[in-house]
Amino acid sequence: MSFTIAIDGPAAAGKGTISKAVAAHFMMAHLDTGLLYRAVGAQVIAGSDPLKVAQSLQAEDLQRPGLRTAEVAQAASQVAVMADVRAELLEFQRRFARRDGGAVLDGRDIGTVILPDAEVKLFVTADATIRAQRRYKELLEGGFTTSFEQVLSDVLARDTRDRGRATAPMVVAADAVVIDTSDMSMETAIAAAISAVQKGISS
Ligand code: DC
Repeated sequence: MSFTIAIDGPAAAGKGTISKAVAAHFMMAHLDTGLLYRAVGAQVIAGSDPLKVAQSLQAEDLQRPGLRTAEVAQAASQVAVMADVRAELLEFQRRFARRDGGAVLDGRDIGTVILPDAEVKLFVTADATIRAQRRYKELLEGGFTTSFEQVLSDVLARDTRDRGRATAPMVVAADAVVIDTSDMSMETAIAAAISAVQKGISS
């Protein structure tokens, strides 16, 4: 039986960590849908046509190294504005979600466009400055050289683009449970997400 959990929210709010933990807890498969846009963005940086890349994208492309850089994140956000690119990536996500045993998908438009009938929808968010602080720490720990101001400006630019685009903008689904992680430890945020999903399963 398929059971889908949609987890949306802006960059660096903790939705990746929460999604992985929720999937592990309920023994479901997990798809980080940002990787689809990052895989397209990375190939566009290398000179390819975004639509052609989206049309021929394979699951293996999501495993390629280098998809987590700040440059690829911006390119992903730019290709994500293109309606034809989004349309090409839609079926891959729905097919993934339909599997037996259930699936957790995280992204920006999962609860609103990709899986409007998801059994549970969460929207994980946090104050932009706090998100930038977290991302800055992650980048430094990952060996990248950058400044906090640069990371904050990247986070704000992506927020504006992801919220403002005409097709599938990032909005809170009417039936989503909002988890604001600004003042939460990651453990508390994960516990809140698991409890919201548990309620959804029981109702
Ligand atoms: O979740 P992420 O930071 O890896 O996503 C990278 C970009 O991809 C994000 O800025 C916007 C786009 N994206 C999207 O438009 N829709 C999704 N479901 C997931 C990501």
